[in-house]
Amino acid sequence: MINFKIVDSYDEIGVLASKMVAEIISKNSNPVLGLATGSTPIGLYSNLIKLYNEKKLDFSKVSTVNLDEYVGLEEDNPQSYKYFMNENLFSKVNIDIKNTFLPNGAAENLLEEAKRYENILESFENIHVQILGIGSNGHIGFNEPFNELNLYTSIVDLKKETIDANSRFFEDSSMVPRKAISMGIKSILRADKIILMAYGESKAKAIEYLANDKISTDVPASFLKLHKDVHIIVDKEAAKYLK
Ligand code: PGA
Repeated sequence: MINFKIVDSYDEIGVLASKMVAEIISKNSNPVLGLATGSTPIGLYSNLIKLYNEKKLDFSKVSTVNLDEYVGLEEDNPQSYKYFMNENLFSKVNIDIKNTFLPNGAAENLLEEAKRYENILESFENIHVQILGIGSNGHIGFNEPFNELNLYTSIVDLKKETIDANSRFFEDSSMVPRKAISMGIKSILRADKIILMAYGESKAKAIEYLANDKISTDVPASFLKLHKDVHIIVDKEAAKYLK
């Protein structure tokens, strides 16, 4: 079931999501968080860091698994998602870095790496929550609209609209990797709870589709409708077409 929550601003998305994640961290002895990158979750991470600094949150028993990584970027590349996670969360809290997992986009054998990563996901009895953003084309992770979607962690081609959208983080769009390694739809749906966040009008059409009673590989996020505990937190612009 999908539960929609419309808030006034980007900042409120981060505050609300951080409360939900903080509760999960506090009530589980070994919390496992599925994490996401991009501009959307930065507010969530800064609120979690704030709670940690106020001594209201302890990350010492937390493990994390990330959705995806660009193919071809080493982890010390500032554009890699590993680097992003260190910068925006891991280096700012008392998490044991050995308990943080991302696919390795620089692996020599990418197919083996996808399998290895899926095995890591499976090794966790529970993934207590999966954090998601959404592409304006409806992608989750790097599962792009296509006539088929991957169930498990796979190597994927990025769509032009994703390369264009993500080029804002690079010097120019020719530097955006064309491939990524991403959890599949079933890998994502394995989580006990899913929190998808979106802000801004560019996401409004994709969010509108999540409110109807259909699924389509053209909107990969629509497969979240098969999950029993999904929370979508959006600002007013992203909620523009919700009735
Ligand atoms: P964004 O990306 O948070 O930077 O908008 C979200 C996504 O592409 O999934």
